Formats: sequence, structure tokens, C-alpha cells
Amino acid sequence: MTQASTDSRIAGRGGLARRWPQLIAVVGIAVASTLVVVLGHPRLQSPDLTPILEASTPIKIHLGAAVICLALGAIQMASPKGTLPHRLIGWIWVGLMLLLAGTSVFIKVIFPGHFSYIHLLTAWVLLITPLAVMAVRRGKVAMHARFMTGLFYTGLITAGAFTFLPGRILYRVFFGG
Ligand code: HEM
Repeated sequence: MTQASTDSRIAGRGGLARRWPQLIAVVGIAVASTLVVVLGHPRLQSPDLTPILEASTPIKIHLGAAVICLALGAIQMASPKGTLPHRLIGWIWVGLMLLLAGTSVFIKVIFPGHFSYIHLLTAWVLLITPLAVMAVRRGKVAMHARFMTGLFYTGLITAGAFTFLPGRILYRVFFGG
């Protein structure tokens, strides 16, 4: 099978119905931006890294893994599928996603000392990431693509947008307060 036919097999069917992760990401970014403006009265400043430097080790690892996952995930979405680089970057991405989700179990800032609603996302990522790998190893390429696209757009981009809400660390980094 040629590279072009592999890519079209993964991406080709379904139109809008297959684009729900992208739609969730767009809506998520819009909702998060609105909440930032309405609740926070933000004034963009040059980034102040103090809140990150003062954060706990799990938060630092979590944030570092998230930033790398965003970059590698964007490369994966845009580049040809099934190639050696795709598989190599894919394994690194999977490892970092598990690290990101694993460290989040030790972060309990929103309800100090207790799990929050965001930990539901942790459970989802810890479940779907291995399932996505198992799917492609069993030849279920479309299922693999669906799971990975969902993880990237819904897990990373949408969750990432909500990390800028007032009171959270990244709000303080970029908007002060
Ligand atoms: C670009 C993506 C992401 C970024 C930039 C990010 C960043 C952060 C940061 C800075 C915190 C520290 C606490 C805070 O500021 O409120 C945090 C907490 C957390 N993150 Fe993420 N994160 C991302 C994606 C994810 C994903 C995919 C998951 C799920 C696996 C996740 C689960 C959590 C959980 C459960 C917490 C703790 C919330 C609490 O205090 O109860 N995050 N994240």
C-alpha cells in the first residue's frame, strides 16, 4: 500500500462527523478564552516564570511533558502516517502522554488534597492511550487514528486551553495576578 493511500484510508471517510475532536477543540478554546476575559480581566504581560519555578515537581514534569506533547502531536497530525518517523515520534508521544497523565495524579491544586473533575481526563488518557497503540498493532488503523486524534485535540488542546483560566498557574505566568 502506498503512503498516499494509507493517509487517505486514515483521513478520508466521514467529513464533519469525523472532525468532532477538532470541533471540540475550537469550542473549548472559544469557551476558555471567554472565561479568561470575563472572569479574569487579563492584561497580557511578558511571561513571568516564577509560578512555574515555585511549583511542585509533578507540576513541572506535567507541564514540560504537555508542551513537548503539543509540539510532537502537531507534527504527527500534519505529517505522513505509518512511516518510520511517525512510529518513532509516536512511541515518544505515547510515553510522554502517560507521564503527563501519571504526574497529574499527584497534582491536587484545585481542591487542595483532593481529586478534581480534571482527573476524569487523567483516567480517560490512561485508558485510551494504550488502546490506541493496541488498535494499530492489531491492524485497526482507523480506530487508532480516531483515538489519537481525540487525545490530541480533546485531551491536549482543549485541556491546555483551560489551563489559562484565572487562578491557574499559566494565567499567572501570562497575565499576572
Ligand atoms: C497542553 C496541555 C496541558 C497543560 C499546559 C497542562 C498544564 C497543567 C498545569 C500547569 C497544572 C497545574 C495546576 C494548575 O495550574 O491548575 C495542571 C494540572 C492538572 N492537569 Fe494538566 N495540562 C495539560 C493537559 C492535561 C491533560 C491531557 C491531563 C489529563 C491527563 C491533565 C490533567 C491535569 C490534572 C488532573 C491536574 C490537576 C488539577 C487539580 O489540581 O485538581 N492535564 N495542568
